[in-house]
Amino acid sequence: MEREMVIVIDFGGQYNQLVARRVRECNVYCEIYSYKTDLEAIRSMNPKGIILTGGPNSCYEPDAPTYTKELFELGIPVLGLCYGAQLMQHILGGRVERAEVREYGKTEVFVDTASRLFSNVSPSTICWMSHFDYISKTAPGFTITAHTADCPAAACENEYKHLYAIQFHPEVFHTKEGTKMIRNFVRDICGCAGDWKMDSFVEQSIREIRKTVGDGKVICGLSGGVDSSVVAVLLSKAIGSQLTCVFVDHGLLRKDEGDAVEAVFGEKGNYDLNFVRVNAKDRFYVKLAGVTEPEEKRNIIGKEFAAVFRDKFHELYPSNEKNAPVDFLAQGTIYPDVVESGLGGESGKIKSHHNTILVQGEDYNHLVEPLRYLFKDEVRKVGLELGLPEELVMRQPFPGPGLGIRIVGDVTEEKVRIVQEADAIYRSVIAEAGLSREINQYFAALTNMRSVGVMGDERTYDYAVVLRAVKTVDFMTAESADIPFEVLQTVMSRIINEVKGVNRVFYDLTSKPPGTIEFE
Ligand code: XMP
Repeated sequence: MEREMVIVIDFGGQYNQLVARRVRECNVYCEIYSYKTDLEAIRSMNPKGIILTGGPNSCYEPDAPTYTKELFELGIPVLGLCYGAQLMQHILGGRVERAEVREYGKTEVFVDTASRLFSNVSPSTICWMSHFDYISKTAPGFTITAHTADCPAAACENEYKHLYAIQFHPEVFHTKEGTKMIRNFVRDICGCAGDWKMDSFVEQSIREIRKTVGDGKVICGLSGGVDSSVVAVLLSKAIGSQLTCVFVDHGLLRKDEGDAVEAVFGEKGNYDLNFVRVNAKDRFYVKLAGVTEPEEKRNIIGKEFAAVFRDKFHELYPSNEKNAPVDFLAQGTIYPDVVESGLGGESGKIKSHHNTILVQGEDYNHLVEPLRYLFKDEVRKVGLELGLPEELVMRQPFPGPGLGIRIVGDVTEEKVRIVQEADAIYRSVIAEAGLSREINQYFAALTNMRSVGVMGDERTYDYAVVLRAVKTVDFMTAESADIPFEVLQTVMSRIINEVKGVNRVFYDLTSKPPGTIEFE
């Protein structure tokens, strides 16, 4: 049976991978092709729908990326997004002009819910706009189906010819009902049945990895967390012994975590992986000594990771010329890392995520990041699909820079010990209380505050530990979890009694935003 497919034609916009991700979310298989792919090739793939993406150009400029008019005459439904929408109008006889002001950000859009594209969408809905040019006159046969205060044709369509144009970006998560619109397009307008599942993602990724890597050597940063474990197992399925997984123990892991990771992935573990553990604690502590600024700490840890990888790679493959580039670096970057590092679109940088720092200025020929456009929940689905054990797949996230960003201020061995012990107690009490599944992420962190206390008639001047626990779906927004007070009290008294150097315990009530989940 032929697989139904939607094709995304890429005009160079920033969100193009996301478009494909949204289509897949509707259980419809999707591939991305450059606008340079000719019409015959597209036709031979027999797509059920075509989506034209955004892009940085102005379609009326002479060298702007374009496509043959015949694309719109195939009888296949076409959805143009932003640049794609303007291009469709331009080619079919409408007019696109430069607006006086750029429309940018979350914008209220008024849609005609009689349009099949906007079926079940609220008549007034928040969408993500990012454009200078606008459609000043729609092409013959098109009717306007949405507008904003500044944009007269925020969407238009020729229903008879199955052609749809949207000025905003339904693929960006700020467009509240964007997935609904894409679903309306692929499922209702294109008539896709929606029977594509995550196993197809695995299959497709394995094919792509083999194609990209060829017979090159890949070094994979494995931390034992969900994302990198999924990448390691996916890669090992794709390229077997060409892969080496390097687990860097930077001395900033949770208590006993290094040994736990080795037990799962090392020689005695369940996977047939080239697994190498590097105990690099001293290197990291020396570099971090006295550093207090959060971004600087993140950068130091990321750079040191890269250095450890590089050293290890040359040690493992001595036949490579000294300082010759590593062929490929694989890592478990996922979409929120990209977005929050300010690389995934036009939202500003919040904090530099570890994975994105690690590769800056490095000499890896290529990055292999198969999960780059997946959200955490999807990564977990892939993990289960690959047969990883549920307790590993459902693990809460642990940041690459580890306890380095859970210790506010400078990092010392003594502070690492305190936070490791406090965190282990917190985790065990939460587990005993049967709450671990309800809370998506919880951990202890160390404030840089010391204060006066009294213990056994003696004055103390010790650190304050802060407990964090959040409920979240996508880790982009989060609420503080309402842990029963008795449970918090148990954690508090055990930490004060058992962890030397702590005389206060706080519970963090802040949601995200305005807080972030981690402290730095
Ligand atoms: P924030 O603190 O940005 O955290 O609200 C959101 C989620 O991302 C995790 N996190 C990281 N994960 N590298 C990672 O792999 C990092 O540099 C990093 N910083 C934060 C954090 O634990 C939470 O789940």
